[in-house]
Amino acid sequence: MLRSLSKVGQICITQLKASNGKSSLMTAMAQHVKARCETYPRDNIKRFHVPDDKVSWETDFPGYSPTEYTSKSLIGTLEKPRPEYSDPDPKHSPVEFEKLKFNDLDGDLNRCSHVTDVYEIKDGYPVNPMGRTGLKGRGCLGRWGPNHAADPIVTRWERDKDGKIKKDENGKGILQFVCIKRKDNGEWAIPGGMVNAGEIVTVTLRREFGEEALNTLEMSSEEKEATLVSIEECFKHGKEVYKGYVDDPRNTDNAWMETVAYNFHDEAGDSLGKLKLHAGDDAVGVQWMSIHKGLKLYASHHDFIKEVVEMHGASW
Ligand code: BGC
Repeated sequence: MLRSLSKVGQICITQLKASNGKSSLMTAMAQHVKARCETYPRDNIKRFHVPDDKVSWETDFPGYSPTEYTSKSLIGTLEKPRPEYSDPDPKHSPVEFEKLKFNDLDGDLNRCSHVTDVYEIKDGYPVNPMGRTGLKGRGCLGRWGPNHAADPIVTRWERDKDGKIKKDENGKGILQFVCIKRKDNGEWAIPGGMVNAGEIVTVTLRREFGEEALNTLEMSSEEKEATLVSIEECFKHGKEVYKGYVDDPRNTDNAWMETVAYNFHDEAGDSLGKLKLHAGDDAVGVQWMSIHKGLKLYASHHDFIKEVVEMHGASW
């Protein structure tokens, strides 16, 4: 797979490092429509408008003057230091900011991108490899540059009361996936989350699924341990669906979301398919959602679900 960056940091679609070279997914990310949404998802901040033909850094856009915004909660004060997941801010902690190791492993934290081997650093700041977003700064994202997430897509077949797989009019089985309702914006989503510093992705996938879809955070330590063990075996047999950029409304010119999405499928419906779901942590609802192309989901999750449908030859 090609990995090089062009001279000004903009990546051509054919150069994206996203998993399996899936061109439909890459094309969807390349326009990053949600990352250019008019109102940033915090504090009613308006982005500078970026027309479709001006997304690429390679296209001149002389009047480009992105709004600057980094959430105050990320910067911290003397009384309330910044949260652990938040990078130093160059205006408040210039010495610490200077020490960040972009495009590299920075202690326990991976600042490498899944999208490109080297993202550009301009005036000290990482540059979004997918192009302009109309907002500079970090918005509400913790890290400058890539912010890594992991998304577990847990699926089973929808069945009738006799246990037979339900089919659509073309004879294709209908898939269901575990879907959560996000607390922050009420949108339905895959129960994913951020990869903690030093954490391996397989652990993030299981932990996030446990916290958001099974509410392990509110279990006793014995119950939690038993629950995590019960899903451990199934979570060993996941298939990678996607690895790369996410078209997320929180993205900015200097900070963006990337994810690794895995499918964990319960063909017989007798293991993961039997789990008792209970929303927790960042989720306020959880359900087995029947999959069809009209689903409205958070960020790029619709595209990931479509990939899973294709992997299983299911109804869409
Ligand atoms: C979510 C993931 C999502 C990622 C990028 C994270 O906050 O938990 O499900 O893929 O953001 O949008």
